[in-house]
Amino acid sequence: MANDILIAPSLLAADFANLGADAAAVADAGADWLHLDVMDGRFVPNITFGPMVVKALRKHSDKPFDAHLMIEPVDMFAPEFIQAGADWVTIHPESGAHAHRSIGHIKSLGKKAGIALNPGTPVEAIDNVMDMVDLVLVMTVNPGFGGQSFIQSQVAKIAAVHERIKASGRDIRLEVDGGVTPATAGAVAAAGADVLVAGTAVFKDGRDGLARNIQAIRDAAEVGRADAAA
Ligand code: DX5
Ligand code: ZN
Repeated sequence: MANDILIAPSLLAADFANLGADAAAVADAGADWLHLDVMDGRFVPNITFGPMVVKALRKHSDKPFDAHLMIEPVDMFAPEFIQAGADWVTIHPESGAHAHRSIGHIKSLGKKAGIALNPGTPVEAIDNVMDMVDLVLVMTVNPGFGGQSFIQSQVAKIAAVHERIKASGRDIRLEVDGGVTPATAGAVAAAGADVLVAGTAVFKDGRDGLARNIQAIRDAAEVGRADAAA
């Protein structure tokens, strides 16, 4: 049976001066996971926050913390994010020379490990870690900023990842990140995605819109999945 569809709001679109309250509010509004975009100004051209902020956020929500590490080098910091409270840790293979070792290290610390594919990264980049990973993240924008437009060409890659996950026989989550809105959620779910990250589309209307916006993405995804199965 297919995994439930999960919505993982990205706090990148929250109010950074009120992150704790926004994390709690979006969790109450129906978020399944909280997606934490960690950027270093080197791997991506933007800087966000580090493990101290993740640790501080832990007091504000019990939801699974989904740390998306856009940093290089990644190996020396991944354990710090785990210690700070990350439950899922996703790395980009380009951020270090040894993705297999990086993923193994995260697993050895007892956490779920993910591998991310940039829009320009071929799907084959996951082939030799499919026996280890718990999650594959397909980026539908180039990482670094919220509010970018969904890159349609990546839908075929989502489907290709979905095929590989099925062939593996393993329980691997298929996450999509970037430009996810009610207008794009159906296509990504139809292609096999089961964790949808959304920043702008969740936070765009302030606190009052959180529950409505999460539900709209979830509904569109469920419809897309059901249509694809019909
Ligand atoms: C981009 C981040 C995304 C981003 C998504 O580098 O990985 O998680 O916050 O934001 P939206 O949903 O606004 O595209
Ligand atoms: Zn992200």
